[in-house]
Amino acid sequence: MEFVPDTRNDIDSWKEVQLVYNSALKEIGTKLEILNDEFHHVHQYNPIEHIKARLKSPESIVKKLKKHGYESTIQNMVKYVNDIAGIRVICSFTSDIYRIAEMLINQSDIKVCSVKDYILNPKPSGYKSYHLIVTVPIFLSDRIVDAKVEIQIRTVAMDFWASLEHKIYYKFEGNAPEHIKKELVECAMMVSDLDARMLSLNDEVRDLIACRQAEEAKKNGMKKQISESDVDVMEDL
Ligand code: GTP
Ligand code: MG
Repeated sequence: MEFVPDTRNDIDSWKEVQLVYNSALKEIGTKLEILNDEFHHVHQYNPIEHIKARLKSPESIVKKLKKHGYESTIQNMVKYVNDIAGIRVICSFTSDIYRIAEMLINQSDIKVCSVKDYILNPKPSGYKSYHLIVTVPIFLSDRIVDAKVEIQIRTVAMDFWASLEHKIYYKFEGNAPEHIKKELVECAMMVSDLDARMLSLNDEVRDLIACRQAEEAKKNGMKKQISESDVDVMEDL
């Protein structure tokens, strides 16, 4: 059921909005933690470095509604602002981003509203991240409502770039000089290169370890065979 807040009293309805979106953050946060734990159990490593969650401030919500020409009402907030609840997932490697996104999307209670792959198609600024808008059901005492959550999934390096670029963008109120914009795009390319090199380094290390483990197992198998044949010899005597 679509979330329609009770708008008879503005204060109460804002509290209800906060409660529903806060619950949505908890639900998605728990799902991500479970996926991370299970991944560690199966593959002995954590794809998620950390998770940040936030509720958009009422001031930012009103600013966004104004920007898009909507009146500042509680109904409009819920209808038109997709990132009241926002979660940022920071992964180790680019490949982890797609794994986490797929595992989450495949869960039966999650509905995907939109997918924006700014890794495949970076923004002109150089920004890279994988964005999902999903809904998750929130079980209230008398009804179940679907709450929207914006999920941004990125690597540590992409996050480093995005947080610095965001600060610079605000310092110049969106009008940074051309050479600074160009420099930021170049830095974004360096970030992509770093991510690609770290991923291939990680693959190489993983293959080397697998190779060593196979050799070790082979050696142990041979040792076992020798000691078993020793037993045979002793029994023959
Ligand atoms: P917003 O109105 O900003 O929410 O954008 P949108 O509704 O068109 O969605 P989009 O997917 O473009 O961006 C959503 C969020 O991604 C933003 O609120 C930022 O957190 C982040 N983002 C998008 N573009 C950039 C960028 O160029 N630089 C940085 N640092 N962050 C960005
Ligand atoms: Mg936003």
